Formats: sequence, structure tokens, C-alpha cells
Amino acid sequence: MLSVEEKEKAALVLIKPGPSRWRLEDAVSELKLLAETLGVEVCLISTLRQSRPHPATFIGQGQADEIRKEVSEKGCDLVIFDNELTPVQQRNLERIIDVRIIDRTQLILEIFSQRARTIEGKLQVELAQLKHLSSRLTGKGVGLPQVRGVLGGRGHGEPQLEIERRAIRRRLRKIEEQIEKVKKHRALLRRRRNRFFQVVLLVGYTNSGKSTLLNTLSHSSIIAEDKLFSTLDPTTRKIFFHSNNKEILMTDTVGFIRQLPHELIAAFKATLEEVAEADVLINVLDATHPMREEQNKIVLDVLNEIGAGKIPIITALNKIDLIPDITRRRKIQREFPDGVLISALKKTGLDELMNKLEATLKCISK
Ligand code: GTP
Repeated sequence: MLSVEEKEKAALVLIKPGPSRWRLEDAVSELKLLAETLGVEVCLISTLRQSRPHPATFIGQGQADEIRKEVSEKGCDLVIFDNELTPVQQRNLERIIDVRIIDRTQLILEIFSQRARTIEGKLQVELAQLKHLSSRLTGKGVGLPQVRGVLGGRGHGEPQLEIERRAIRRRLRKIEEQIEKVKKHRALLRRRRNRFFQVVLLVGYTNSGKSTLLNTLSHSSIIAEDKLFSTLDPTTRKIFFHSNNKEILMTDTVGFIRQLPHELIAAFKATLEEVAEADVLINVLDATHPMREEQNKIVLDVLNEIGAGKIPIITALNKIDLIPDITRRRKIQREFPDGVLISALKKTGLDELMNKLEATLKCISK
């Protein structure tokens, strides 16, 4: 972990959104939180107006020159674009701005790679990184050490680009085989476990408070941080119902996010596979977030996509301790009439949530 003085300094570049409901300031705070999650210090935020992406540089030449000036004045080491860049755009921008450039996909991939804990999580992240990398090969060397290790010698007259492609294909096959093995083992464990316990899964937008809720309900201490994606691998705890002396299993899942790189949706299927087999889902929503309705929609869309749309779902409207005003609370309750107002941190509303959960579980076991 880098100390405060050694932190890399990053500039953020965002394009002002068109008529979308996701406001610029929300996009800025999300990108800032993502950057901080990676461990960099944000030293500059540049929001640009743009009509059509430039094929060579994404932004206009004048805008790129302006960013270079500001980046050099502030001493930034890195520029993070909120959008996805093509390899050509990325290389050209690096040439103009003269520091490392990464886009949103690479930022999320780097965070995931820092945070994956289990063997499966690490393999899934490497798979996603390799898939992303394979579309960006230049023949000028590969960044990932695992791939460099299998590059081997150059065949007679074989171009470097071909060697890199071959090495990546080989590594991809190997990882996919390993993942398949781990997956089979996990499915077996899951089937055995699900035979004895009902399973409740916490889903929700990243940073909504899933780990904190699981923590509070199970009195354990899974890390809860004000950083995105603190949970990358599913974490399961037993939860005890005092009313009927029954135990259930509750699992925390990776947080959903808008514009999740599609490589990652596929790569994290393992985490999400578990969702489709749950008996009940608890959708933890940050009730204080101005984009809570959009975040809720993203979560429900992903659930539908992975075949979990029909599982009973309870909405937990979290962080209500930050909304003392009764009128605002009523407004939120009206937006989500079936939702339960809770504070996972201050432990309020949890009895109502657990009663609702118990009733739902009872209903489906009949
Ligand atoms: P990901 O792993 O990114 O998906 O996050 P998560 O949904 O597991 O969120 P987490 O539990 O890590 O909480 C995110 C931040 O919100 C932390 O700083 C928590 O302390 C804070 N938080 C969680 N619940 C509450 C709450 O009820 N009230 C307040 N005020 N803060 C909360």
C-alpha cells in the first residue's frame, strides 16, 4: 500500500452527458470514488463538452492540448477517462498528454485485480484482463507477467504480434480450464449446502452497504470500506432467527455498477451464478443517493439478465440514519412502497427487515 506522499496523482476526464438522467456531478463523484478505490489521489477534474467522439483522439485536439497543459501544471502521473477508449485513441492521447492514460474499463479491471481474494476471483480477473488485452496488442510487449512468462521464443520469421497472440490464447485456455475445475467444485459445495439451508443473497449497487448489513446481521466483521467493490468474492455467513431457532445462509455479492465493462459481467458470472440459485434476494439500496431509482433499475436489469428476475426480492432502503427529516423519509418510502427503511450501521429497522425476510422464506418453503 502506498503512503500518502507516494500516491500517484490522477486527472479525471469526463464528457458532459446528454439528456441522460445520470447527472454530471454524480458521474464525477462515482469516478472519483473509483479512482480513490484504486489508491490514487485526484488532482484535477476536467469535464468536457463533446458532440461526437474523435476517431483518433476521442476528444478534440484543442481539448487534449488543454489537458496536457493542466496535467503538467498539477504534476499528474495519470489521466483516467470515464469513457471507453480504443487502443488507437489511448496511444494517441498518451503521445499528446505525455502521461499514462487509462479508461473506465481498465480502471475497474485494475481495482478488481487489486481486490480479488479467492483463487477463483483472481482467475476471473486475469481472464477479464487478458480478454481486454487481446484487443489491444501492438507487438511491442505485453504488460501482464503471467503472459510474459509463456511468450517463449520467436518462431522462424514469426512477427512479434503473432507470438503475443499465441501466448495469450494459450494462457486463456489454461485459465478457463482452471476456472472450470474451481466452478465444478463450488457448485458441488453449493448444492450440498443449499440442501440444508435456505439461502439469502444480498445484492445491490456498489457501496450501498451490503457488507455492513451482513456484518451487523451476523455480528461478524467483514471489511466495510467507503471504497467501491470492497467485496469481490462472495462471503457467506450464518444468520440465526430467534423466533423459530432456524438458521439460514446469507451471502454478500459483488456490487453492481453502471457501464460495468462487458468483459467483467462475463468474468464475474461465477459470483452471479450463485444469485440465480438463491431462495430470496435482499436488494440493498443507498436511500441517500440522488440516483437511487436509476441504481435500483440497473440492479433489477442485471438480475433479469442473469436469470434471477423471478426470485422474491426485498428492498432494504439503507443509510436512513443520514436522513433525519421525516418528509424526505416519506418521499423515499413512496418511491419504494414495499421497501424497508433501515440503517445497517446504526442497526435500525432490522427487526422489520428480518420479519419480512422470515415471512418470505416461510412462504416459499410451503
Ligand atoms: P461494495 O463491496 O462496493 O459492493 O460495497 P457494499 O455495498 O458492501 O458497501 P459497504 O458495506 O462496504 O459500505 C459502504 C460504505 O457505506 C461504508 O463506508 C459504510 O460504513 C457505509 N454504510 C453502510 N451502511 C450504512 C448506514 O446504514 N449508514 C451510514 N451512514 N453509512 C453506511
